[in-house]
Order: sequence, then structure tokens, then C-alpha cells
Amino acid sequence: MSQRIPEETVLEIKNKNDIVDIVGEYVQLKKQGRNYFGLCPFHGEKTSSFSVAADKQIFHCFGCGAGGNVFSFLMDIEGISFVEAAKKLADRSGVPLDVDVSSNGEKQHSALNDMLEAHEFLRGLYHTVLLKTKQGEEALKYLLNRGFTKDSIEKFQIGYAIDSWNYTTDLLSKKGYSLDRMEQAGLLIKRETENSYVDRFRHRIMFPILDRQGKTIAFSGRALASDENKYLNSPETVLFNKSKVLYNFQNARASIRKRDAVVLFEGFADVISADRAGVDNGIATMGTAFTNEHLQILSRTTKNFIVCYDADNAGINAANKVADLIHHHRLNVRIAVMPEGYDPDEFIRSFGAEKFQNEVISAANSYISFKMFYHRRGKNFTNDSEKMVYIETILEEIAKLYNEVERDYYLRLIAEEFNLSIDALLRQNRKMVKQNNKEHQKKEERNFSNDVFVKKSKLKPAYQVAEENLISFMLRDRLLADKINQKLNGETMLDVRHQAIIMYLISYYNEGRPADTSLFLNYLQNQALRMVVTEIEMKSLHLEPSEKEINDCISQIGKQKQLEVLQQKEHEQKEAERKKDFNLASQLALEIIEIKKSL
Ligand code: GTP
Ligand code: MN
Repeated sequence: MSQRIPEETVLEIKNKNDIVDIVGEYVQLKKQGRNYFGLCPFHGEKTSSFSVAADKQIFHCFGCGAGGNVFSFLMDIEGISFVEAAKKLADRSGVPLDVDVSSNGEKQHSALNDMLEAHEFLRGLYHTVLLKTKQGEEALKYLLNRGFTKDSIEKFQIGYAIDSWNYTTDLLSKKGYSLDRMEQAGLLIKRETENSYVDRFRHRIMFPILDRQGKTIAFSGRALASDENKYLNSPETVLFNKSKVLYNFQNARASIRKRDAVVLFEGFADVISADRAGVDNGIATMGTAFTNEHLQILSRTTKNFIVCYDADNAGINAANKVADLIHHHRLNVRIAVMPEGYDPDEFIRSFGAEKFQNEVISAANSYISFKMFYHRRGKNFTNDSEKMVYIETILEEIAKLYNEVERDYYLRLIAEEFNLSIDALLRQNRKMVKQNNKEHQKKEERNFSNDVFVKKSKLKPAYQVAEENLISFMLRDRLLADKINQKLNGETMLDVRHQAIIMYLISYYNEGRPADTSLFLNYLQNQALRMVVTEIEMKSLHLEPSEKEINDCISQIGKQKQLEVLQQKEHEQKEAERKKDFNLASQLALEIIEIKKSL
């Protein structure tokens, strides 16, 4: 059943929630002229290309192209549906709105609901079994022996799934859930041969995995007995996308924001131990590598990352990779280093919370200090060639730093340690930086040309500007839109996105809606089109267009079309000459002259 919110209510919610206030809760905004500017929460950046227009109640990022209204801002930043965004805004502004937010009004409504409900039910059940039953005693003893406290068992809602093939299956079945659906939710396993279901998690300590709204969407089960799979995760399901989910993010988010830093751990056990030790801004991936997607999610909350991986070879190599990824995106990264062989959980148990906070987390290395430690490992500096390799590697790393003062500082350290001429180092460094910048620029250009919507504001061709102007006129006023539509007389835009926007806009008006760009954005369900509209609106000056201006825009588009026909004919003419078809060639030549005349 689809939930439609009445249009008057949408309008009221929109009017009672100023986009500047809502965005301001996520982004620091500064007023500059007509608009507000800040750092874009949707991509990492150091200069403010993200802008909010109070008069039009829209936002747009000139860097990554993101754009929309107050509803789509919340949808994008919180990863929620339109109905959920509307509900949030209604609640905070006291507009009564009776919608069931757990059901997005989608087809999968009841399937998704069942899956979420079953997860919630099992989370509670496993937790109770661990704490309150005889069957849970062994697991509880194991956890307490390992230093888990009752408090953290409570906070992380840790549980236990007993050693049985049908305990969970029977319970879910008794509660009336479709077992097929429970299998799709990753809770059960289907036995093809007998067409029956069995429990996926058996004899395992259960860690619930929450989504960003705090709902349980998966489990990770740690084997109690020695098992080839120490951890068993829920499979990917409609609820659970491993590359988007971070363990403990829901709990840690407020602290990440407050401390303006996040700590990345490898293991769940590390996250929980660290939390107990007062480091409550930690997260871990689901046993998979830390990816761009994870980085993007976290970078909306903070730009400062501390990597605290195991101090063994695998951990240090993984930390090096993650540090590179974060640094590459121009975010700040520091790397915590522990004595060889320790993981954070063991360190805390051996040396205590205070040492962990002060000597590991607070004392985390800068990117370059870590690189020095990393490249020095296992090298023998009495051997000149090993020393040279080290120096060259470090010089390359230093050249990757974005800050010149920092580069200078580390070059001096190297010069001093190895008794090298600082002038020579500075010269070589300048060369390397130049080279890096060139390569970087090439890469960026390639990236941009692949992405239609991220085109930097190069000088646009005249017809493009003409189309954009027409759209901005049409957005202002219904009568103007009708007039332009009549003048166009069936003529289409060259840019298909512009054509689509105009079609949407006309039917938007035809359904009796008011001229209001922000409201129109709700009507445009396509994010790419929303980006185009917000860009046009951010740039438009909103002067009253004269008759002549409108006509000029339309004729500009016509000209471009003729120009394209001309190019086509010239191409055909050359082809005809090549094939020695002089009849065709001379006929084309006449046509070309005609077109040129009319231009
Ligand atoms: P403890 O061994 O109980 O201290 O757990 P840990 O969280 O410290 O685990 P460890 O450092 O060995 O591994 C780090 C993370 O990798 C774990 O938290 C899991 O997410 C993941 N992981 C480890 N072993 C497995 C496995 O066998 N299968 C899967 N899927 N993930 C694993
Ligand atoms: Mn561990």
C-alpha cells in the first residue's frame, strides 16, 4: 500500500522547516551574499563549494553536483525514504502527520517488516539466553573471562545462539513467520534435499549489527568452539549490505561528532574493549576491507580518522593501505601503533584503559611518521643500499603531502638524520610535487569526462546556456512557462536532461501546482535531474526576461541544431567526393550554402 502524503501537508512541512536550519545541523554554513556556503557533506573537500539558497529553499554543490530541497537533503544524508524524511521534518516542526515510517509504502513492505521484526525478536532472545539461562552459561563465562563486562554485554546487546539445528527455526515458525522469508533474511539455511530449514547460527556468541536508524539488520556470530570460521556473518540480504554497514556506527556517531574523530578497528572485540576503555568513537568493518564507500559515509560526520589495527604484519599492512586511501581523499589520518604482536583488545587487557587512551590513541602517529616507521621496518641501515631505498621511498611519500610547510618540516628531519643537503632535498621535492600534480590533474580530467554530472564549470556552449536560461524562466512563473512552451512549438532541447525537466515541469504546472522550485524537486524523482535543476537555479539571477531574451534563447537552440545538420552534410559531402559521386557532392554543396546563408 503506497502512502501518499497530501500535497498541502508537504507544503506545510516545507514552509515550517527552513532548509538553512536543517542543513546547518550537519554543515557549518557561512552567509556570503545571497546564499550560504559550507563544506559539502557529500564529498570530501577543503574549499566550500556547497551552497544553500534561503530564498529558493534549495541546496547545490558546485563540486560534486549534489542538489535538492530540504526533503532530499535528509534523504541523501540519512539514507532514508521520502516518507521518513517528511515524518522527521513534520515531527520537529509540530505538523501532525500520521504515517507508518517503518513501512515505506513499498511493495516489499510486509516482507521487509517481517525480516526486521524477526531480527529484533532474535536479538532480544539471544541476549536473554546469554544472560538468564543455563544454556547460556558457558558463553557468558567465556565473555567475562575475556574481560567483557555486563555493561558492555548490555550496551552492545551481545547474545548467544545455542548449539542446536532447529531452535531458532522452530521459534520463528511458531511465531508465524514464513521460513522462506526468514531464509532470505539470512537467519536460516535451506536444506535443498529435504526441503527443510535449519538454524544458520549455532553455538555462537551473537553480535547484532545495526543500521543507521538503530534497527537490527544482521548478526555476526563468533564461534565458541574452535571452528574453521571464527566469525560467521549474515549473508548479504535486502536489509544488509556489507560494504555500507559499519559495526557500532549507530552507537558511536554522537561521540564521533563530539570528538570530531573516528577510530577504525579491525575487530568487533577491539571496538567493544575500546568502548569499555573510554574510547567510544570506534567502528569496525564487517571483516571486509575498508572501502571508499565506508569512507564516504564516515566523512559526513568527521574528517579526522585514527587507524588502530593489530600490530602484526597483516594489521600493519592493512593500516598502511587504509591510511593511503584516507590521505588520498584529502582527509586527515593518524595511525596508532602498539607494541609488536598486540591487538587493541589485548593491549587494553594487559596495560589498562589509561595507557590505551594516552599512549595509543592520543599518541597516534601522523601520516608521515607512520610511513617512516612502516618503511623502516626490517631494514638494516648499516647497509647503504637499504638506506637509500628507504630515503627515496620516504621522499616520495613526503612529496604526496598537500601542505608545503609540512613537506618542508619532514624534509628537514630527513636531512638531519641522514646528513643530507637540505637544498638538494628541497629541489628534488619540488620536482616530485610538480610531477604528482600533473598526474593528479590528468586523473581528475579522466574522472570528470566519465561523469556527465560532475563536469566542472568549463565555459559552456551558447546553446547550453540558452537551454538553462529557458528552464530558469519557466521555473519562475507558470504563465511564462506556458508562453515559452508555445514559442518552442514542439522544438526540443538538445540536452536530453533539459528536455526531460521541461516535460516534467509542464505536467507539474498542468496538475495545478504553484511555481516553487523546491516543491518541483519533490516531483522530480530522478536525482540526476534534481542536480541539474539546482545548478541552474543557483546560477540564475532571476531578472525579468524580456521578449527578446526569450526569442534569442530559442533561436540559439535552433542555430545549434542547424549547425549540427551542417556538420553532418559536410561530412557526407567529403564522403561523396571520396567515392567520386560528384552528383551527390554538388547537390550537398548547394544545401550547405543554403544553410550557411540562413545562419
Ligand atoms: P577475537 O578473536 O574474539 O578477539 O575477535 P576479533 O574481533 O579481535 O577478531 P580478529 O582480530 O581475529 O578479526 C578481525 C575481524 O575480522 C573480526 O572482528 C571479524 O569481523 C573478521 N573475521 C575474523 N575471522 C573471521 C572469519 O572466520 N570469517 C569472517 N567472515 N570474518 C572474520
Ligand atoms: Mn582479537
